Parts: sequence; structure tokens; C-alpha cells
Amino acid sequence: MNVRVIAACLLPIGFAVGQTRTDAKPPMADEVFKNIKVLKGLPVSEFMATMGFFSASLGENCTFCHVDQSAGSWARYADDNANKETARRMIGMVMAMNRSYFNGRRVLTCYSCHRGSDRPRLTPDLAELYGPPLLSEPDQIQPAPDAPPAETILNKYIEAAGGAQRLAALTSFAAKGTYQAYADTEKRAVEIYAKAPNQRTQIAHTGNGDSTTVFDGRGGWTATPPTDRPVPVLPLAGAELDGARLDAELAFPVRLRQMLTDWRVGYPTNLNDRDVQVLQGMTASKSPVKLYFDKESGLLVRQVRYAESPVGLNPTQIDYSDYRDVAGIKIPFRWTTTWLDGRSTIELTEVQPNVPIDAARFAKPATPAKP
Ligand code: HEC
Ligand code: HEC
Repeated sequence: MNVRVIAACLLPIGFAVGQTRTDAKPPMADEVFKNIKVLKGLPVSEFMATMGFFSASLGENCTFCHVDQSAGSWARYADDNANKETARRMIGMVMAMNRSYFNGRRVLTCYSCHRGSDRPRLTPDLAELYGPPLLSEPDQIQPAPDAPPAETILNKYIEAAGGAQRLAALTSFAAKGTYQAYADTEKRAVEIYAKAPNQRTQIAHTGNGDSTTVFDGRGGWTATPPTDRPVPVLPLAGAELDGARLDAELAFPVRLRQMLTDWRVGYPTNLNDRDVQVLQGMTASKSPVKLYFDKESGLLVRQVRYAESPVGLNPTQIDYSDYRDVAGIKIPFRWTTTWLDGRSTIELTEVQPNVPIDAARFAKPATPAKP
């Protein structure tokens, strides 16, 4: 019996404050939703990632497989329509094919056939064959035989960002700026609070209400307006928790090398006409993270990470730019986050280094109120 199980037996009502949060089981889709027949046993976050994967694979909105009324009501997502029934059969088909033909490896996904269309194409396309090649992002990089060691590139980054000594002297910061979501024409206010070594909270005051992500050093949450998510305050789990941890650690990157394991260095490539070095490491839950460093400046320009879903991986890409000097450290003042069902850009206007930050900033967020 491990320590956690013993603690659970002794304290049937709950853990002491400070343990409850991170050891609590994330809510499961089967408990929260009404009509789950195939995708059983998934945390809500992974279930919703699966829905995002479906939409992106077929190039369709949510209402393609859900009744029109679901657009204004989470409850109506439980209703079935013909495409939802087909999707259920397709999940079974894909799982059976991976099992029977590929030794149970998840090499076939909805996207393998659909490629962003509801009806997979039947015939090779001459226009595509002779058109300009589409540069696509590989999930995992190939190690390059004569690449410099990962440590060299990471050390160069630490130097470029201000050096280990100055980085270690940054113990916290509070930042303000704007947040613009893909479909929103307006820039909204955003606040970021970070405390070394790895606590970070981001609050975007969106048109629907506040959208908050917290990582408290062990666990984390996302809180979104009820119009945006079926469960407004969700504990982070798996690769999403790893992602929030990574963003928190990257705010104070001295420990970057210990943060991921199984580092490999790929072939150098090109990003926005700049030469970049590509590194890959694995998170605690064994999902790959790729980091792109500008060859000349040594600074981090892109991060790509993946969240698990039973039908495929969900990529998230963050592009960093506009590095400015704060207390002798280079901090990106602009970054764009792109994921399967959204994109947002944050531009900072001010960063206050080494300010005291109330511990309550990193506590579980409350359900967001309407603006
Ligand atoms: C390709 C089809 C498809 C698309 C696109 C799709 N879904 Fe689903 N959705 C399903 C299927 C199938 C189920 C039922 C899963 C099961 O039975 O295990 C489901 C179930 C759900 C449920 C649970 C409802 C309940 O109470 O039982 C929610 C919520 C949901 N989807 C939200 C979404 C959202 C939000 C989107 C857009 C991001 C979306 N779906 C896009 C196929 C789809
Ligand atoms: C091996 C190839 C393949 C894979 C993998 C695949 N599909 Fe399909 N899917 C098809 C084909 C082919 C059709 C069109 C069938 C037809 O024309 O009757 C289709 C049709 C559909 C439709 C109906 C679309 C419409 O306009 O009628 C839905 C919904 C769908 N697939 C969902 C999915 C989902 C969700 C996944 C992943 C779990 C998936 N498919 C994986 C081949 C595939």
C-alpha cells in the first residue's frame, strides 16, 4: 500500500489543506456527461481534447456531430445525430485497425484518412502533387548524427537570456498586457503572475468573462467562462498539467535541462527566415516537447507540445518574439499560442521584476462570473 492510499484511508473526508488539490482525481467524462457510449474512462480535459481532435481532423465545427441547439446549451450535446453515430462507429473501426494491423500501436488516426475534410479523398490530387510543398511539423524529431549536444544549445540559451546568475536572481514577476483571441477583433487585458521556481497564473479578461490558468508548483487548474467549457473550473491532468508546468518553469528557465528527459537534437531548420536548432525532450507523462532556439541569438523562439487523447495527439505551439531586457534578463514580450481549436496572442506592456506576490494568486480559481 503506498503512502497516498494510507492517507486516503485515514482521512476519509479529505486530505489536509495543501494536498487535496493535486491528489484529487480530475472529474471524469462519464460522470459529467449524459450519453457516453464509447469514450469511457477519460478525464473531462482529455475527452474535450478528443472533441477538438475530431473537429480538426474533419475540418468541421462541433455542431457537425451534434444537434444545432448544442451551440447554446451544453446539455444538448448529449443528443445524437447521424454524424455522431458514424463517429462512434469510426472510433471502433480505428481502434480495431490499430489493434489488428499495427500491433496495437496508435498509428492510424481520424486525421490519417480525413485530412481536414468530412469525406476522405479517393484520388491523388495532381494540383497538390505539382504544387508547392506544404511544410509539415513532425510529431517527433529525428536525432541528427553530428549535432552539438543538447547541453551546449541549452547553455547558450541560458547565457543569451542573461546568464545563470542573473536568472537565479529573478524570484518573481508581475506582468500586464493584452490578450487577443483568434476570433475576437478586440484586444483584452491580461495579467500574469509568476514566482520562482515554478508557479504561474495567467488571467485573460475575455469578452465572455475571465479565463484563468494556474500552476501552483504541483498541480493546476483552468477556469473558463461557463459558455466556453462544460466544466468551468477543471483541475489539470496528464499532458495538460505538464504543459502548464513547462510554461511556469520557462518563466524561470535556469532548471530547463532537468525539466525534461531523453533530450535529443534534430537537424537544424529554418523558421521565419532564421536558422534554428531543434531540441526534443520528454515530459513526466512521456509526451514529447520540441524547443526551437534561434541559432544566432540563442533565444527560444518556439515550443511545440502534445496532449494525449485516445484517438490521437493534440498539438499546441507557442511562438515567442519581441525579447526585451528586464532586470538584465531577456523576456519575450509577445507570444502566439496555437492549438487545434484556437489561437491567441499575448503582448506584454509592462513586467515588474521581483515584486511580492500574494500566495492566493496561485490558489484554485473561483468559477468565473459573467463580465
Ligand atoms: C466527428 C464528430 C464529432 C465532432 C466534430 C464533435 N463531437 Fe462531441 N461527441 C462526438 C461523439 C461520437 C460523442 C459521444 C461519445 C461517446 O458516445 O462515447 C460526443 C460527445 C460529446 C459531449 C458529451 C455530451 C453528453 O452529455 O453525453 C460533449 C460535451 C461534446 N461531444 C462536445 C463537443 C464539442 C465542444 C465539440 C467541438 C469542439 C465536439 N463535441 C465535436 C462526436 C463529435
Ligand atoms: C481508414 C480511413 C478512415 C479513418 C481512419 C476514419 N474515417 Fe471517417 N470516414 C472514412 C470514409 C471513407 C468516410 C466516408 C464514407 C462514405 O462516403 O460513406 C468517412 C466518413 C466519416 C463521417 C461521416 C461524414 C459525412 O459527411 O457523412 C464521420 C462523422 C467520420 N467519418 C468520423 C470519423 C472519426 C471521428 C474518425 C476517427 C475516430 C474517423 N472518421 C476515422 C474513412 C475513415
